[in-house]
Amino acid sequence: MDTYFNDKIAVVTGAGGVICSEVSKGLAKEGATVLLVGRTIEKLEKVAEEIKAEGGKCACYICNVAEQKDVNKLADRIIAEYGKVDYLVNGAGGNNALAQPNIAKFDPRELDENKPEDLKGLYNVDMDAFESVIQINTMGTVYPILAFAKYMVKEGKGSIVNFASMNTYCPLTRNFAYAMSKAAVANFTQSLAAYFGETGIRINAVAPGFVVNERSVKILGTVETGLTERGSKVIGHTPMGKFGQAQDMYGCVKFLLDDRMSSFVTGVTIPVDGGFLTLSGV
Ligand SMILES: NC(=O)c1ccc[n+]([C@@H]2O[C@H](COP(=O)([O-])OP(=O)(O)OC[C@H]3O[C@@H](n4cnc5c(N)ncnc54)[C@H](OP(=O)(O)O)[C@@H]3O)[C@@H](O)[C@H]2O)c1
Repeated sequence: MDTYFNDKIAVVTGAGGVICSEVSKGLAKEGATVLLVGRTIEKLEKVAEEIKAEGGKCACYICNVAEQKDVNKLADRIIAEYGKVDYLVNGAGGNNALAQPNIAKFDPRELDENKPEDLKGLYNVDMDAFESVIQINTMGTVYPILAFAKYMVKEGKGSIVNFASMNTYCPLTRNFAYAMSKAAVANFTQSLAAYFGETGIRINAVAPGFVVNERSVKILGTVETGLTERGSKVIGHTPMGKFGQAQDMYGCVKFLLDDRMSSFVTGVTIPVDGGFLTLSGV
């Protein structure tokens, strides 16, 4: 076990997910005490087991990060148990197929009362799902920051990493709610960096390229088992010619969290994307 982050307390939301399970394992392997936050205990416990099997320190916390009361309670509990939080990684987030149309361009039939059943335009998506995507990606980032920064301000230090997306820079088709919410994450990261600039708290974001997770595997496929049309487009648009691995995100998250590495970096969103953003598509 490395001791690089030995005295650090790191809260990681979405820690049961593809990317932040690896971020959590990375931090724990380097000595941090990692507090794993999510909604599904089974997912968190699986990550915790792996961390503990390697000799790492961690604990699991159930919390819906899109609910401010729950997040405030969680922060109070964690401060009561550990006395401080050094790092916050806001990895909880995601998309919802119900919030997505199945066509990329407006079709006048989507406004018809008797529209074809298999046609789902922007006018036909489930607006509750649409709002919930915005809620989790935006307020699910805002609430943990407010709750934990309150304590970081008292310590005069702290580092926060949010999760943006390729959609932050330019939206993918059919991704309305997800894309606007991930653009908001980068924008909010800048606003907060300015707001907390003199407090010693730094706030940055990582914008992952395409890392296949439970949901996106259905949309993209995998290189090994076969790509969908959309998956082939993504790979064709990625100069490195592959999807990212969850582990690929850790180095960037570590850099942004660590004052020894990035003490004068705040308000930035760093793409970790195999070069996806370098191509215009023409
Ligand atoms: N994978 C990619 O290619 C990619 C690309 C760009 C950006 N990102 C972003 O990177 C982050 C991590 O992505 P990922 O691929 O690791 O996603 P993932 O595998 O779906 O994991 C996301 C985790 O967030 C948790 N979560 C969702 N809503 C929550 C809520 N309201 N409260 C608490 N936890 C909640 C989920 O836990 P439960 O299942 O328990 O709810 C899930 O374990 C997300 O913000 C995602 O949007 C991913």
